[in-house]
Amino acid sequence: MDIRKKFLEFFESKGHKVYPSAPLVPEDPTLLFTNAGMVPFKPIFTGEKEPPNPPRATSSQLCMRAGGKHNDLENVGYTNRHHTLFEMLGNFSFGDYFKEEAIAYAWEFVTEVLKLPKERLWITIHESDDEAGKIWEKYVPKERIVKMGDKDNFWQMGDTGPCGPCSEIHYDQGEEFNSPEDYLGGEGDRFLEIWNLVFMQYNRDEKGNLTPLPKPSIDTGMGLERITAVVEGVKSNYDTSIFRPLLNKIVEITGKEYCQDKRGASHRVIADHIRAVSFLVAQGVRFDREGRGYVLRRILRRGVRHGYMLGQREPFMYKIVDTLAEQMKEQYPYLLEKKEAIKDAIKLEEERFFETIDKGMALFKEELAKTTGDTFSGEVAFKLYDTYGFPLDLTQDMLREVNKKVDIATFEKLMQEQKERARANWKGSGDVKINLKDLEKYEPNKFVGYEYLRYETKVKALFDENLNEVKELKGSGWVMLEETPFYAESGGQVGDRGEILKDGKVVAKVVDTKKFDEKNLSKVEDAELKVGEKVEAVVDESRNEIAKHHSATHLLHSALRKVLGEHVTQAGSLVEANRLRFDFTHPKALSKEELQKIEEMVNNVIARGVNAEVAEMPIEEAKKAGAMALFGEKYGDIVRVVKFSDFSVELCGGTHVKNTAEIGSFYITKESGVSAGVRRIEAVVGLSAYKYAKEYIDLVEELKAQNKAKDLETFISKQKEEIKKLKDEIKALQKAAVKEIKPIQKDGINFVIERIDNADLREIATDLKGKIDNLVAFLAGENKGKVTLVAVSKVPEIKAGDLIKEFAPIVGGRGGGKPDFAQGGGKDASKIDELIKKIKEKFNI
Ligand code: ALA
Repeated sequence: MDIRKKFLEFFESKGHKVYPSAPLVPEDPTLLFTNAGMVPFKPIFTGEKEPPNPPRATSSQLCMRAGGKHNDLENVGYTNRHHTLFEMLGNFSFGDYFKEEAIAYAWEFVTEVLKLPKERLWITIHESDDEAGKIWEKYVPKERIVKMGDKDNFWQMGDTGPCGPCSEIHYDQGEEFNSPEDYLGGEGDRFLEIWNLVFMQYNRDEKGNLTPLPKPSIDTGMGLERITAVVEGVKSNYDTSIFRPLLNKIVEITGKEYCQDKRGASHRVIADHIRAVSFLVAQGVRFDREGRGYVLRRILRRGVRHGYMLGQREPFMYKIVDTLAEQMKEQYPYLLEKKEAIKDAIKLEEERFFETIDKGMALFKEELAKTTGDTFSGEVAFKLYDTYGFPLDLTQDMLREVNKKVDIATFEKLMQEQKERARANWKGSGDVKINLKDLEKYEPNKFVGYEYLRYETKVKALFDENLNEVKELKGSGWVMLEETPFYAESGGQVGDRGEILKDGKVVAKVVDTKKFDEKNLSKVEDAELKVGEKVEAVVDESRNEIAKHHSATHLLHSALRKVLGEHVTQAGSLVEANRLRFDFTHPKALSKEELQKIEEMVNNVIARGVNAEVAEMPIEEAKKAGAMALFGEKYGDIVRVVKFSDFSVELCGGTHVKNTAEIGSFYITKESGVSAGVRRIEAVVGLSAYKYAKEYIDLVEELKAQNKAKDLETFISKQKEEIKKLKDEIKALQKAAVKEIKPIQKDGINFVIERIDNADLREIATDLKGKIDNLVAFLAGENKGKVTLVAVSKVPEIKAGDLIKEFAPIVGGRGGGKPDFAQGGGKDASKIDELIKKIKEKFNI
């Protein structure tokens, strides 16, 4: 049975609109990941946004419970039901129906669609919620309705946000499922919580206070993997049709059979983690050292380590992506579409960890053998983290298997710096709150800036800096014009600047333009504005240059895909008046040839003078025309498509040139890496390209003038020749100097013990060796701040290697070699004279 489909169809038949799964990275800054089906609807529950029509929704939402308030990572693999990523089936009422209908719908779905036996269903309610109890009594005998406290039956999204008492449906799997904690609300296997109905009544603020929501609402959540296990009659989520294909693939890759008990933990961890990793990567999250990217890295490395236990010594997880993509293709086609890029990114990160895992594991084992009590060294845990890339929870995970713990206090002391940085990123609800309420009553204003850079319009509304509405604005704040030619920052393109005039006089300086809730507002300074007055809005000329950089970004994107391959996807973009920056997925640095090819390709399209064709059309049509939709971007039903012949087709709301010739020329100024698997290209076009080229030309001219050179190439090769000649001369002089060296004779041995700076001592020594019999030579000298030592001996009793070994420490160095020839080095040139003296003393000369 396709439960997901049945669920969505059921609620659609009850007047709910079906919503697609929203991105795992939520818009909500208080959350690390979308952790429940209600997250995308939060602003509606809290009243920040008007309810949609109909005020009922249903979805199967991808959720992550790793790293944030709801964190299940450490349990995954060891239980039958914990996951990092799972799908939550839910139905939502925004001030429409409440407990009565929510319970009735849930009951009908569970008993009539899923056909679960009624006598096996148990209900829990919040201890204060007699109302829910009464309603349930219509369906379930009183004995199977149980009251519970806040811990079990009060649900909240995070530290802040909408919340309320809840009621859960539990399924009794029967006595044969006995295990510890076999009671309602326990973690045992017998009573399985299958569906949570939350009666959303409050909003919790930063201080922990509860305030009633504008309208009581409904939020429900049923884990797809769990309910599938119940319906398919299997004990563990991992035995369902969702996980079996993945486990089979893991068996095939590792050659290790899967066991349903404890021994299968590694298989389960890998099966779970590859799902989380693949979806996060597909949705644009990158492996990183902090924030969400670090959670992603932790999950992958935990998976790799379990593969390591199964004998894997090179990347293997990426090989499971094919199976997953195939399995999910109907609901999540983007996984299949981006399969190759996802595999590349995962493989690269696996390689990175496999480089250090051996050494890390060895260090871990060594320390474990030394650990007598139950506490593992915090220093070593930190070293594992810092040097070998073992996330703390990975080390903890390994220790759990032997009932030991990390000395967290020490670890944390050492980690403090990094931790503070990471935490600063996720302060959550501490962010400045802007007020969107006052804006709500306004319809979105029209953007006329595609056609006009000057426009006569009226001041529709005014706001202070926090978006509180005002009637008059003096100084700084925000203005909403009835129609506006100012482009609001989006798709990487910066917001427009400009001026607002009244009767030809400047009455406000526009310093930025942004969109709030689909409304286009300009940030103004030195303003003197009143609501309702007629004004003229004038966009700054820099907009022309912005348009050039934006169009060039599209051409660059296409050129990258043509030269590097279809795996290239946009990972970030910035379009300004004087530069563009484009981040994209690609596993390695671009070669000089690739960069040249890309630059040339873009310049060719510019030179051809291709017209921009801009059209609005339904999204499906746009996709057919070849436009790529970016994951996580919101597109309406009708989209704007920007096309430059068949070279580039993109969905884009930005402003562009009318013809590519306007771009002038395109120079790549820099290529660099942003994070694992993401590269960045910076480039300039238009006026900035002219300035860039001009600076180069000026530099060359300047160098020519300074050196009185007609052309630099001849000048430089002449210089090189000159340098070579000088070097040869120096060598010749050194050789002549060597001739002057007179050995000191003692006991039939010819001693040469000399300091010679800035010379090739090796050559001199070889020279001496050829010429002088019974020679013992020790040469020392300073060269580029360092000390070089060479020793030669033609006398069997004195060994050159020993001499170096004995004396090098004087100059803070070491070295050695054969009995007849040895070399060494040192750091302290101030000790050379002392060294020479000591050697002479040794031989009494
Ligand atoms: N939001 C509720 C939950 O996650 C339904 O359990």
